[in-house]
Amino acid sequence: MRVLLGISGGIAAYKTPDLVRGLRRAGHEVRCAATANGLRLVSAEALAAVSGHPVAADLWSDRGDMPHIDLARWAEAVVVAPATADLLARASLGLADDLLTTLLLAVEDRVGLWMAPAMNSQMWGKAIVQQHVAALRGRGVRIIEPVAGLLACGEQGVGAMADPAAIVAALGA
Ligand SMILES: Cc1cc2nc3c(=O)[nH]c(=O)nc-3n(C[C@H](O)[C@H](O)[C@H](O)COP(=O)(O)O)c2cc1C
Repeated sequence: MRVLLGISGGIAAYKTPDLVRGLRRAGHEVRCAATANGLRLVSAEALAAVSGHPVAADLWSDRGDMPHIDLARWAEAVVVAPATADLLARASLGLADDLLTTLLLAVEDRVGLWMAPAMNSQMWGKAIVQQHVAALRGRGVRIIEPVAGLLACGEQGVGAMADPAAIVAALGA
């Protein structure tokens, strides 16, 4: 499948080059689209090297094209990993204020959409975050649940992004 990997600004972004490699090993072609904050936590160069394609991050390219439409048409599946609290909220509300959220709206409804939330356990436990997750689920988004563990913030709890291997498996399920 042609898989578009969306990367938002969670610490688990550092695992996404591994995720790209896992998706490619499973036979998928992968392109990456990241938020500006995502690219503070993983380098565009690393993602380009493992995916074989430049990373899309800028809605306003100077080429006069429309990267959100091109990528949305290209994708047969979209996976957002990690999905931050902020990304989940924006997607739930239908905001389109950067390349990633705009292309989430631009993909056709028949394209499968998966999201792997990842955040501090207090954030994950907030009612407003759970409401956004429930709204997304209600619209057909497949949520790949975060797991329990020692989080990057030092807390123990639920909020860690699912393992890259589990995300690859979820796509095939
Ligand atoms: C080092 C660092 C790690 C972060 N990790 C997370 C995270 O795992 N999950 C999350 O929801 N927000 C996390 N944040 C906060 C987000 O980066 C912030 O909410 C940002 O607005 C998200 O933007 P984006 O969703 O457009 O990428 C982190 C911030 C910093 C500085």
